[in-house]
This record gives sequence, C-alpha cells and structure tokens, in this order.
Amino acid sequence: MAASTSRLSLSFLLLVSFGLVGLSHAASKCSVPTPPINIPIFPTDIDLLQFALNLEHMEADWFLYGALGYGLDAVAPELVMGGPPPIGATKANLDNVTGAIMAEFGYQEVGHLRAIKSTVGGFPRPVIDLSGKHFAKIFDDAFGFHLDPPFDPYLNSVNYLLASYIIPYVGLVGYVGANPNINGYLSKRLLAGLLAVESGQDAVIRTLLYERANEVVQPYENLTVADFTTKVSELRNKLASCGVKDEGLLVPVSWGAENKTTSNVLSANVNSVAYKRTPAEILRIVYGTGDEGTPGGFLPNGGDGAIARGLLKFA
Ligand SMILES: *[C@@H]1O[C@H](CO)[C@@H](O)[C@H](O)[C@H]1NC(C)=O
Ligand SMILES: *[C@@H]1O[C@H](CO)[C@@H](O)[C@H](O)[C@H]1NC(C)=O
Ligand SMILES: *[C@@H]1O[C@H](CO)[C@@H](O)[C@H](O)[C@H]1NC(C)=O
Repeated sequence: MAASTSRLSLSFLLLVSFGLVGLSHAASKCSVPTPPINIPIFPTDIDLLQFALNLEHMEADWFLYGALGYGLDAVAPELVMGGPPPIGATKANLDNVTGAIMAEFGYQEVGHLRAIKSTVGGFPRPVIDLSGKHFAKIFDDAFGFHLDPPFDPYLNSVNYLLASYIIPYVGLVGYVGANPNINGYLSKRLLAGLLAVESGQDAVIRTLLYERANEVVQPYENLTVADFTTKVSELRNKLASCGVKDEGLLVPVSWGAENKTTSNVLSANVNSVAYKRTPAEILRIVYGTGDEGTPGGFLPNGGDGAIARGLLKFA
C-alpha cells in the first residue's frame, strides 16, 4: 500500500514538475537542435535556389491569372522587381472547386517567391510566355500533329488542369536534383519546404486529372485526358534527353508502383522515389528547344540568374 501510494505521489510530483518545466521553458519546447554544420547558406547554394525563381515566376502568374484574372503585379508588385508582364496570361473559365484550388496555388507561389528572394536574393520576373498559342504549340509538339481547333488552356477546367500538368512537376524534379548540391541548413530547410509544396500541387493536379483519365478532351474525339498526360510526359523526356524521368497518368504495369498498378497518380522511379533533373534538363524542357543554350517556349529571352545565363549560347 505504502509503496503504491508513494509511487503515485512520485508520479504526481513528476507530472507537476514537468508541467512547471513546460511553463517556465515554453520556448524551449519548440526550439530546434543546432545543425551539425552550423552554416545557414553556402555561397554555392545561392545560384541553385535563385535558379528556381524562373519556374516559381512562371507558376505564380500562371495560377494567379488563371484563377483570378490578374497576377503578381497586382498581388505582390514588390516581387516583380520591374520585370515585364507575362505574355498572354488571362483568366481561365474554371469551375468553383478548380478555381479555389488554383487561386490557392497562385498565392502559394507568391510565398515561394518571397521566401527565395528574402533568403538568397533574386532577379526581376523574366519574360514569360503564358499565351494560349504557346500552350497550343506544346500540345501539338507532344502529339506530333496539329490539334484542330488549337488547344486552348484557358477554355475550361480540364484544359487548364492539363496545361497545369506541365509546370509544377518540372519544378519538383528540379528541387530533387538540386538537393545534393545544397549545403547550408537554412537553404536546405527552404528547399525541402518548397519541394513539399510543389509536390503537393503536382499531386492535386494529377489527382483531379486522374478522376477524368478516360474522358475525351473535347472536341478532340478520340484523345483522352490520360493520352494528353502521356504525350506531355513523353515530350518532356524527349526534350530533356536523359531517359525516362516523367510518366503520364496511366502506364503499363511495369512502370506502376511495385509493378502492380496501371494508375500512376504520382510519377516516380522503380522504388517510387521521385525523379530528379539538372538545371540544364529543366531549361531544355521549359525552353521547348531541347537545348539549354537556345531560349524559347515559356522563357523566350531565356532564364535569369547565374546558372541559366551561364548556359546561354551567346550570353
Ligand atoms: C460557384 O460560386 C458562385 C459564387 O460564389 C456561386 O454563386 C455558385 O453557386 C457556385 N457554383 C457552384 C456550382 O457551386
Ligand atoms: C482517332 O485516332 C486515330 C489515330 O489513333 C486517327 O487516325 C483518327 O483520325 C482519329 N479520329 C478522329 C475522329 O479524330
Ligand atoms: C518491376 O519490373 C522492372 C522491369 O520491368 C524491374 O526492373 C523491377 O525490379 C520490378 N520491380 C519490382 C518491385 O518487382
């Protein structure tokens, strides 16, 4: 009896003292251990994180304009830093759910731009082509023939989601690729946080499309949503010319998770680990030229920052 009573009292005392410790050191409850390498940003981190601004700028104006009808100039002009307005961006005809999700994505990109620019500095918004004509060309290139009528990314939710399929995925594989070359603890924290949200965006876009995978994309009679994703993924693999690092929504089982699925809501390798790409591979894709030294596509004047400029042929 005595023993159990004193054990109870001891537990009570311990609880009380932990409670008091908790109260008196409230801040230490959430404190973060000192990183083993206590350097926030390595000089070599800066160019890699700034490189991502090219994609984050594309995404910010793409999602903001599509959902809201206006972009970074209206939402966060200080992040534009005097760069020119995006070419051909406009409001898309979206259903309410898609519109709400895309608006959220747009605002998330504003946060990403702020996070990068305030951590490692940055450059003005580059010239970005978000015109319907440019997206139509991408899908024509993807299919290898001219879609008639030309694909209009702003026409409806499905078209907008198909066009959105093109962008965050490239950002996410770029972050995975940059990771081994980033060394500072603050840079790593930023990269992981950006990667997580880009992956989330890509997953949401792909899930919304997967729900309609077998639907025909009107008015193209026998081309389904899944066909569009497969063709875009094939085009990106071709432009980057470094093997298969990009898979559509429906795949042969040998490409599915553990060789068990034909669904492919997330694109990943044989161990379901995300693919990675280098800045050069990414530029080959977003330029649409297959050459990191020849600008075009989304970035008609090329990307900004030391990495993209260093790869330009006539820089
Ligand atoms: C979409 O949102 C608008 C405005 O909030 C509302 O009037 C309309 O009923 C909604 N439509 C659907 C299908 O929920
Ligand atoms: C359907 O696709 C086939 C090729 O897969 C093509 O030859 C045919 O013209 C298409 N039909 C229509 C109506 O688009
Ligand atoms: C799935 O198949 C591929 C060959 O197509 C093979 O390389 C891989 O090891 C297989 N994965 C599993 C988990 O069996």
